[in-house]
Amino acid sequence: MFTEEMLASVKKVEATRKERIGFEPKRMTAEEKDALLKKFHPDYKEEGFKNLTVGPNKGDKVPEELCELLQGRSRTLDLDIDLTKIDYDVDVLVIGGGGAGSSAAIEANEAGANVMIVTKLRIGDANTMMAEGGIQAADKENDSPAQHYIDALGGGHYANVPELLRKLVTDGPGAIKWLNDLGVMFDKDKDGTMITTHGGGTSRKRMHAAKDYSGAEIMRTLRDEVLNRKIPVVDFTAAIELLTDGKGSVTGAVLKNMETGEILIARAKTVIIATGGAGRLHYQGFPTSNHYGATADGLILGYRAGAKLLYADTLQYHPTGVAYPDQIYGALVTEKVRSIGAMLVNAEGVAFMHPLETRDVSAASIIRECTERNLGVTTPHGSAVWLDTPMIEEIHGEGTIEKRIPGMMRMYGKYGWDIRKMPMLVFPTLHYQNGGLFINPDGMTDVKNLFVAGEAVGGIHGRNRLMGNSLLDIIVFGRHAGKMAAKVSKETEAGELTLSHVEAFEKERKEAGIVNDTASPRLLPDYTRK
Ligand code: FUM
Repeated sequence: MFTEEMLASVKKVEATRKERIGFEPKRMTAEEKDALLKKFHPDYKEEGFKNLTVGPNKGDKVPEELCELLQGRSRTLDLDIDLTKIDYDVDVLVIGGGGAGSSAAIEANEAGANVMIVTKLRIGDANTMMAEGGIQAADKENDSPAQHYIDALGGGHYANVPELLRKLVTDGPGAIKWLNDLGVMFDKDKDGTMITTHGGGTSRKRMHAAKDYSGAEIMRTLRDEVLNRKIPVVDFTAAIELLTDGKGSVTGAVLKNMETGEILIARAKTVIIATGGAGRLHYQGFPTSNHYGATADGLILGYRAGAKLLYADTLQYHPTGVAYPDQIYGALVTEKVRSIGAMLVNAEGVAFMHPLETRDVSAASIIRECTERNLGVTTPHGSAVWLDTPMIEEIHGEGTIEKRIPGMMRMYGKYGWDIRKMPMLVFPTLHYQNGGLFINPDGMTDVKNLFVAGEAVGGIHGRNRLMGNSLLDIIVFGRHAGKMAAKVSKETEAGELTLSHVEAFEKERKEAGIVNDTASPRLLPDYTRK
């Protein structure tokens, strides 16, 4: 499996390992970071983006793959849909069965609303399930939400929407308590104290984890809670369009059974978009750590109905995606690997950056090492750097890897790669959409009664999210959207069901001269060989 070049390079990594222990590479200055990002981070490239020519963000730059879908053709235009035949009639319709959607549904149910989840795959098939390293919250004595705010604001390049960030950090400790009470098995000391670690850009240890499968553990608990409460979940059913009353309010959604193709109509007093991210659109040709359904559907549905986007041009490339072996190319190697001691080193065995710089800076550093500096190790997909996992046991002792990052050990072990002895080969992978639909502090978009939660929201994290703030935001904003949507639904009559916004969008497309028959939303990625 290993080439001669890889084996020769590993010898250099081994030769410098001892002297790297206890050595802290210098942190970059703000000016150095800016220059690095401009030159090497994919968000700063000229190519790979297009300007929107229709819709609420007309004129704004977005990734070209997203542009094609945002300006694409509604799937409803080719269908004969009977809007008088209502299949589901609810107070709150949640689109998406991940962590945000489930949290929203639990709170809406708690508030007494008649709530239903629709999901194009199965409940739990979501990026939440794939999250590894942990969830941030300032609940230790040496920490505070204000400190958490400052860290996230710096990491986000001061672009975070202040009210949203404030809510994220102040509701953080309560979110951890809620999850713990529901049954999430967080890592704890013998006396029950939560074990917390650092992540990139954090000034305090506030990362709560369940080993390195934190998201799976959280999703397991939320899914159980949804099912225990008997909240209806309609699996394998995608929302292909929102319904509006023609006067600016959302009133439901057109659904499509993914197995039979049957079209179903859901009437709802309020709708929550919780459709997650976009990694499966593979922006700029990057592999992704995202789950199979991450195709930005909620952004498309919301945009066509008139909801504004914020920062849709900014993505997160997780610095440590698997570069090799091929079978797991692009999969996530959790930042926790670095937070417990592994260093990033180049082909010469040199630690070229501080291991806990923020993610955009780390990704750009790796790209620089593999391109301009030509100090990467050749892989079938290009070039990569080492993440020196054997350091972890040199620092903390034998057995640490199995105890703290068993998921990583198992993932590599399947391919005969023992990360206790052999470092990992990593390169950035498309991990998270920093931008998304704009919401006000109530969780609502510009479209009345249309709420958004989770990765489909833009602005909470500014232009770069810190590790562990996404698991936190799906809980904080998922719960908030569920409560608010339930409240609003009590004051709202069921509205008329129309597709007038689709007709208006189609007219705008024609007037703008858009020739684009791409069916949108995408729903599932297309991996057929061309
Ligand atoms: O590296 C990680 O474990 C990823 C965490 C996150 O995206 O928050």
